[in-house]
Amino acid sequence: MPVKTIIEPFRIKSIEPIRWTTREQRVELLRAAHYNLFLLPADDVLIDLLTDSGTGAMSTNQWAAVMQGDESYAGSKSFDHFRDSVQDIFGYRHVIPTHQGRAAERILFSVMCKKGDIVPNNTHFDTTRANVEFVGAEAVDLPIAEAKQPSTVHPFKGNMDVEALEQLISRVGREHIPLVMLTITNNSGGGQPVSMANARAVAAVCRQHRIPLYFDACRFAENAYFIKLREKGYANKTPKEIAQEMFALGDGCTMSAKKDGMANIGGFLCTNDDLLAQQEKDLLILTEGYPTYGGLAGRDLEAIAVGVQEALEEDYLRYRIASTAYLGNHVASQGVPIVQPPGGHAVYLDARAFLPHIPPEQFPAVALATELYLEGGIRSVEIGTLMFGSAAKMDLVRLAIPRRVYTQSHIDYVVEIILEVWKKRESIRGLQLLYEAPFLRHFTARLQPAP
Ligand SMILES: Cc1ncc(COP(=O)(O)O)c(C=O)c1O
Repeated sequence: MPVKTIIEPFRIKSIEPIRWTTREQRVELLRAAHYNLFLLPADDVLIDLLTDSGTGAMSTNQWAAVMQGDESYAGSKSFDHFRDSVQDIFGYRHVIPTHQGRAAERILFSVMCKKGDIVPNNTHFDTTRANVEFVGAEAVDLPIAEAKQPSTVHPFKGNMDVEALEQLISRVGREHIPLVMLTITNNSGGGQPVSMANARAVAAVCRQHRIPLYFDACRFAENAYFIKLREKGYANKTPKEIAQEMFALGDGCTMSAKKDGMANIGGFLCTNDDLLAQQEKDLLILTEGYPTYGGLAGRDLEAIAVGVQEALEEDYLRYRIASTAYLGNHVASQGVPIVQPPGGHAVYLDARAFLPHIPPEQFPAVALATELYLEGGIRSVEIGTLMFGSAAKMDLVRLAIPRRVYTQSHIDYVVEIILEVWKKRESIRGLQLLYEAPFLRHFTARLQPAP
């Protein structure tokens, strides 16, 4: 009989203590942080599900590679290891290292976009949207209809609405669309995967109109594993073969290696276009660094070279997807509204359904996230009205699971705390904004309980 229990496919060699606080302490800490969980000292958090970005645990092989880092300014052999490993999976001609994903985005959009342009995406992540807007272009989200309904189950809820893409192109003209982006998996849309069939259809539309297709590839390995599990014809392919097939549909990508690069810092920008690559490297030298390090140390390049390959290991992906689903399914089975089905890197609580008495302008997902902190010292993040303003279609609390960090009992604790908060949901109050920055306001916003 096959064994049903899915265990962490690693053992722990080095541990990091976490710290308990009392509820009274957390009430004070939250007030001092202006009800913005980004402003809390990390030491005052027990289980940190703020993000899966850069928070993962590196493997023994990655740490060994770190010691091989070649810190030469130019022509470092760590760059060769990094480029070869990235090209082995992604297949693009030019690989440009950056200090993280948003640096790749800034360079890409600075080179490809101008004022008045439009960039379609299944759903732009916050930094992607902000970087598109920063160069005066418009970021347009074109998710499928199911993506806007949190409780609807769909195997590939990250898909782009291909018909909407075609309509947009014919309405505004291809000359105003310098590139199309596809985010795999769709983070802001619930950590949901994009199917190979959808990527193929988007690529065909792009080819027909001679518009380049770029992937926002942060969680490419999780996306590949969902395709293996859910899409006909892929059960016998390896996640790596699936990732290679998907990237072959595009002209390049942006990547934050802090996700499926399994590294604590880093990113890259890829393209097949020689001219663009030259312009991108010129800009890179101006703000990030020489093209063989791009703002990273040689040791970071080594960690990423190993990490992108480890992210595609099937034992790891099986555990990763199963443990995220475990959290989502346990709270959902008790009636807690979540974005269905659970995503790859995170579970998203639907705060509008959890707290129907709090209107979007009083930030229901911030209210829910702060309550999870008060109840059990858990840090999560709002993806909703505070993050996206009036463009927000949902108010979600994202519980992002760092890679290879927490065990089953940590997740059981999180389930228990969410269910406690669910019981007292009617007593939770909304918040009002006291301060906001001109862009990406959620990082620094100050709030207080609404009167
Ligand atoms: C889909 C997506 N794109 C881009 C980024 C930006 O990457 P970074 O945080 O490394 O700048 C993120 C980070 O969370 C993301 O989830």
